[in-house]
Order: sequence, then structure tokens, then C-alpha cells
Amino acid sequence: MVNKIPARIRWAVDFMDVQPADHVLEIGCGNGAAADLICRRLEGKGKMFAIDRSEAGVDRTKARCAEHVAAGRLAVRQIDLATLRVPVKRLTKVFAFDVNLFWVREAKEEIALLHERLLPGGSVNLFFDTSRPEQVPDILEKTSAQLRDGGFRVYIVDSKQPPVIGIIGRR
Ligand SMILES: C[S@@+](CC[C@H](N)C(=O)[O-])C[C@H]1O[C@@H](n2cnc3c(N)ncnc32)[C@H](O)[C@@H]1O
Repeated sequence: MVNKIPARIRWAVDFMDVQPADHVLEIGCGNGAAADLICRRLEGKGKMFAIDRSEAGVDRTKARCAEHVAAGRLAVRQIDLATLRVPVKRLTKVFAFDVNLFWVREAKEEIALLHERLLPGGSVNLFFDTSRPEQVPDILEKTSAQLRDGGFRVYIVDSKQPPVIGIIGRR
């Protein structure tokens, strides 16, 4: 049975415009819906690395994406972004959906780490569900400021239906 991909995830992944040879890092992969969709768009040298600090998230992603793991296209690890020390130095895209890290506290070190591992022209794509609109101004302001301070060029994208905003940082 093919697991259903939520509309908010589909919109965000479509926006990110995955190319077959991309090297994608997902932070906070949770149930693996985005990892599944992204891996379906990779071919040839394309690879994905999905991390979640929670064991449950990693287990769910591994189960949902077993075919991509078996094909050598996807690696899934239980790790916090702050301690990511693996050799992923040629990333083209970083993706996260509803990972609060970037606006609830200072994430200077994590953002520096992403900047260092992304190729020039690569992008950080941070998406949030906006069905609680009262949080949106804070999310936008704090996340954009942190990415800008980390050396990224920042722009915002949004969708009313499904309710999503994206804060995109280009290296
Ligand atoms: C609200 S869930 C969203 C899951 C999935 N992206 C989605 O949209 O359905 C946030 C996920 O990010 C993970 N997470 C939060 N901070 C993290 C960090 N610093 N490093 C790795 N994973 C993190 C959590 O464990 C959780 O699985």
C-alpha cells in the first residue's frame, strides 16, 4: 500500500523542485512522508540523508522508506542537527518541515553547519504549517534573521491552501 502524502508536504517538496542528482538533507524526518516523496524524485547520483533526534521518528522513516534505504538512495540516522558530524559536504538542498529549532531559540551553530555543508547555489528550505496564524510573524521574523545572519540570501514563499510558509535561504 502506498502511504498517503499530506498536501502540505507535497506542496513544500514541489516547491523545492528536487532534481534527480540532488543531495538532500532532511532535518526532523518524523514519519518519513517527505523523505519518501523526495527519494522518488532522485535518480542516478541523487542521494538523501534524513535525520531526526527522536528514535520514533527514525524508526518510522526507515519503515516507510525501506525501499529507498535498500536501494542505497536514503540513509536515516538518529542524531540532533547540532551534533551532525558525518561527511555530507556536497549538499544541494536542505529541507525541514515544522522543525521549531530555527525560531524558538538561537540556532547559530546549526545554521553555520548547514552553510558549510551546502554547495554554492544550494538552499535551505524551512517550511511551516500556518494553520495557527498567530505564530506566523514570529516564525518569519526569527527564522529569516537567523538565516540572514548565517550568510544566506533569504526569501519567503507561501500558500493559502494548504496553509504553508517557506523561508528559503540561498547560499
Ligand atoms: C513537528 S515534527 C515534524 C515531523 C515532519 N517533518 C512533519 O512535518 O511531519 C518535528 C520533528 O523534528 C525533530 N527535531 C526537532 N529538532 C531537531 C534537531 N535539532 N535535530 C534533529 N531532529 C529534530 C523532532 O524529533 C520531530 O520528529
